[in-house]
Amino acid sequence: MASSYKPSSRSRLKDAGFRRVLPLTLLVLLLVLFLIFLFSNSKISPYYYASAELRQQEERTSSLQVHGRVKLDLNFKPKFPKKTDLSISLEQRNNLPPRNLDLFPNLASDHIKIVLYVHNRPQYLQIAVQSLSKVKGIGETLLIVSHDGYFAEMDKIVQTIRFCQVKQIFAPYSPHLYSNSFPGVSPDDCHDKDNAQKKKCRGNPDQYGNHRSPRIVSLKHHWWWMMNTVWDGLSETDKHIGHILFIEEDHFIFPNAYRNIQLLTQLKPLKCPHCYAANLAPSDVSAKGEGWASLIAEKIGNVGYTFNRTVWRRIHAKAKQFCTFDEYNWDITMWATVYPSFGSHVFSLRGPRRSAAHFGKCGLHQGNNQKSACVDNGQVNMEIEEIDKIPNIQSNWPVHEVKKTGGYQAGFKGWGGWGDERDHELCLSFAYMYHINEASAD
Ligand SMILES: *[C@@H]1O[C@H](CO)[C@@H](O)[C@H](O)[C@H]1NC(C)=O
Repeated sequence: MASSYKPSSRSRLKDAGFRRVLPLTLLVLLLVLFLIFLFSNSKISPYYYASAELRQQEERTSSLQVHGRVKLDLNFKPKFPKKTDLSISLEQRNNLPPRNLDLFPNLASDHIKIVLYVHNRPQYLQIAVQSLSKVKGIGETLLIVSHDGYFAEMDKIVQTIRFCQVKQIFAPYSPHLYSNSFPGVSPDDCHDKDNAQKKKCRGNPDQYGNHRSPRIVSLKHHWWWMMNTVWDGLSETDKHIGHILFIEEDHFIFPNAYRNIQLLTQLKPLKCPHCYAANLAPSDVSAKGEGWASLIAEKIGNVGYTFNRTVWRRIHAKAKQFCTFDEYNWDITMWATVYPSFGSHVFSLRGPRRSAAHFGKCGLHQGNNQKSACVDNGQVNMEIEEIDKIPNIQSNWPVHEVKKTGGYQAGFKGWGGWGDERDHELCLSFAYMYHINEASAD
């Protein structure tokens, strides 16, 4: 069109051009205003990065997928009990580097870290550790042992481990470290079904009218403290891009467990992109698996589960649901509130034969009762066949999806035991403990 311009009509053309551009200018202006509005609004529900350093690193590598964003509610002020001398000394141990660096100076680049969380069953831990010592590939990874409370015998067993790098961490606010104050029992605490007003005691009853018991709430506190610490609070895991596998002191780990979980996490994006996790065992803890030539996707089980940081961010963002739901079991809390709040089925991928087994059931509530059929003279009679010693998952298998979820799910009201507001507050504080700077920075 430029060829048709005539010098005489130039100013008129300019005029017409301006009038044509005017609506566009207004549109752009509106858009800018709208964006400013959006930005200022985002302060209401802010997203914070784990640290300024992490943010820079993320901007450099644009690895948001790896580290994700931390969502915090600025109105909540984290609060922690005063540390005891024992908590302080244990926390110092948490900062020690892993042991066995002389034997295992390097971790494999594709390693899956393992977290073993324990309380106080040395006889069980001995079996779990023994089974771990026979796991193929274990020397390639770091084993983190998270302790609820301090028990010398438990400590000693972990210190004998020589088959991989080992790091011990101790929950400094474990109720077991407080003998006469919260989160232990304080002198003015209500007990059982006490009426707080009549008795002038402290505490909020759960939905069934019972007051807190430190021994019972300690498990959920420990699990949540441990999750926050291993994902967001350790230099050893800070840059970890891959998965972390979680096991407990009453789990027997089969020799093929590590190679199988490596296979499963590799197959997960290809075979089951909507799966959140991978599992070493069926979600029904007594099941050994179907033995089919197929992978299985079902609800996340609590024996040998593994997921990555992206999934942890989603769980962390539900801190409030996790910490206020009146249920003292961490796993039932997850099934009944956290997973359902993700909006779709939360599947985990596993093989058709278990690579880990829960053995504690018959001894847990019986103390030193010798009747226990599962653990006998420190031995557990677990049938390990040849097929459990080698990777036994095929990458060309189809995936069988189990949609029907048995057990606890959305709608379950909880077994209670978690009604005290001090427990809610401490639990929620754990979600903030490694993000306090970002929370106050804005
Ligand atoms: C982590 O796992 C989730 C669920 O399987 C997946 O969607 C996501 O892409 C994974 N993130 C990374 C960084 O691999």
